Amino acid sequence: MPGDAELLAMLRKAPVLAGPLPDFDPQSAPAAPGPLLAAWFADALAGGVPEPQVMTLSTAGADGEPSARVLILRGLDTADCAADFASDVRARKGRDLTANPRAALTWYWPAQGRQIRLSGPVTVRDEQATRQDFLGRSEAARIGAFTGTVSEPLSGPAEWERAHEAARELLAADPGRVPDTHTVYRLRAQEAEFFQGDPRRFHVRVRYARNDPGWTRSLLWP
Ligand SMILES: Cc1cc2nc3c(=O)[nH]c(=O)nc-3n(C[C@H](O)[C@H](O)[C@H](O)COP(=O)(O)O)c2cc1C
Repeated sequence: MPGDAELLAMLRKAPVLAGPLPDFDPQSAPAAPGPLLAAWFADALAGGVPEPQVMTLSTAGADGEPSARVLILRGLDTADCAADFASDVRARKGRDLTANPRAALTWYWPAQGRQIRLSGPVTVRDEQATRQDFLGRSEAARIGAFTGTVSEPLSGPAEWERAHEAARELLAADPGRVPDTHTVYRLRAQEAEFFQGDPRRFHVRVRYARNDPGWTRSLLWP
């Protein structure tokens, strides 16, 4: 195993934003961020970006302690520049959001040198959206949701096996069951930033700030 210095030397040599990367002309950026969000997702899918729906959610609870983790995008309303994600309300992120319903979402797609950042208030979606989200998941994911309590301590694999078997039996008897704690959240962007990396480091940063009913668009130094 390499030591820290050797690791760092190897990491420093690893290319970052080496390209070729797509051009992004900020003059062509639309007046609102939603259409750009849709276009960049479409580009990511067309370009074969692996797992473009995976994003980082950052929250901070009542104590102000920041916390971030990776989640899957569960819904999108590009007309309103809003994005949905799901969690158990008892998980750390759920507790953070109950205490402080604001968050940030970040995507990074290395093959395209693109980063998207959204931040703003978070609300809980209604029961119908929650049921639809949960029942649209794979059987393994649904069983997983009934297996133990996310973010609580786990003694080891034996405890997981027992809980998993109990969850499997529960869902076999009642396949339409949705955990009371399953929650779909919607982040309505107050601010959105699109970063297009450039191998020469003339990165483009376009920032949108919500100014209801429109948006203020500006360029930022990279
Ligand atoms: C690729 C990937 C996708 C994930 N998707 C979700 C998700 O959609 N919802 C979720 O609650 N956790 C998801 N997780 C797990 C979270 O990253 C995290 O470990 C878990 O939700 C507990 O986070 P918390 O203790 O901060 O609440 C995912 C993890 C990975 C690696």
